[in-house]
Amino acid sequence: MKLLHVVGARPNFMKAAPVIDALKRADAGTQILLHTGQHYDENMSRIFFDELGLPAPDANLEVGSASHAVQTAEIMIRIEQYLSEQKPDLVIVYGDINSTVAATLTCTKIGIPVAHVEAGLRSFDRNMPEEINRLVTDQIANYLFTPSPDGDEHLLREGVASDKIFLVGNVMFGTLVRLLPKAKQRNVRKTLELPEQYGLITLHRPSNVDEPDSLVEIMTTLNEIGEDLALVFPIHPRTRKRLQDMDFKTPNIQFIDPQGYLDFVALQSEATVVITDSGGIQEETTYMGIPCLTVRENTERPITITVGTNTLIGKDMQKLKQSVQDIINGRYKVGKNPDLWDGKASDRIADVIVNRL
Ligand code: UD1
Repeated sequence: MKLLHVVGARPNFMKAAPVIDALKRADAGTQILLHTGQHYDENMSRIFFDELGLPAPDANLEVGSASHAVQTAEIMIRIEQYLSEQKPDLVIVYGDINSTVAATLTCTKIGIPVAHVEAGLRSFDRNMPEEINRLVTDQIANYLFTPSPDGDEHLLREGVASDKIFLVGNVMFGTLVRLLPKAKQRNVRKTLELPEQYGLITLHRPSNVDEPDSLVEIMTTLNEIGEDLALVFPIHPRTRKRLQDMDFKTPNIQFIDPQGYLDFVALQSEATVVITDSGGIQEETTYMGIPCLTVRENTERPITITVGTNTLIGKDMQKLKQSVQDIINGRYKVGKNPDLWDGKASDRIADVIVNRL
């Protein structure tokens, strides 16, 4: 069997690594790794390949940054050519980024089966580009690997045949379980001269950072929180550009470059609180039992709220400040780990691909 994995941006890499590994152990056949080049900076891409032990991509489509339409179209044009040369038996796509939907659309049009890893998640917010990518990918992909039972429910409700859906659990924890001990040996907190109590921030959602009013409000609040709690902010290129455009000063926040996987996991694992709008970080903090405050109105990962350590803040900056205070004062909920967050999801995927498809 010839399997072709498509990855494109930072949140894909930690999901693909354990799947590639499990398929190798299961002797599934030839594996090809294709990078679309959606993310291309050293610390948004290359460092992850090194730290996660991913094989170097067999090809890179080098699409880079552009508007959604141009980026998606460029991936489709370039991947069609590559697929027609490679002729894989199955293409495996990950998550909800533009590369995911572009690869899936192209494959289905030329008759190559697609498996979607992390299928079925829904925020029910169609203003999020990722929600559109999820909806389209899941409607047309042939096999859907879901991380949690809500994923199965959403897919069934949307009319997806049950024999296409496989509940396997969350693949990302294959990587976290493997690398957490190594991450914990990192001295990143000391290197950054952070005190024992600190907050870790990530923000990059267009709804938060592309609207100047919203960005100013969030940053002003964070700067106020920074009077009581040290704050470190590995800043995404999109957010960095927006802040540079605005020439806005927040002296109580320590900005650093985007971190590699190990240092970022290390920073999460020791944080007093994580303030984020990312998807994967809501899950990683739940796994590590670290309080997480999500600056979004909704989440496609509700299990992190009902079972885990996550709280939705929305745009309520008063709630953000109050929640940070509650966490500092030890008055925050204790979460636990959802089912199937055991680091073995990738083995279940390999089993399905080798024995059932
Ligand atoms: C993408 C994903 C998002 C994911 C995020 C993780 C989509 C629709 N969005 O958003 O789901 O959470 O990746 O980071 O696919 N840039 C660089 N260097 C890079 C990559 C990007 O400077 O290596 C800058 C460019 O100016 C670009 C901007 O960041 O315009 C946004 O990059 P893009 O890939 O379009 O989307 P993300 O915001 O990263």
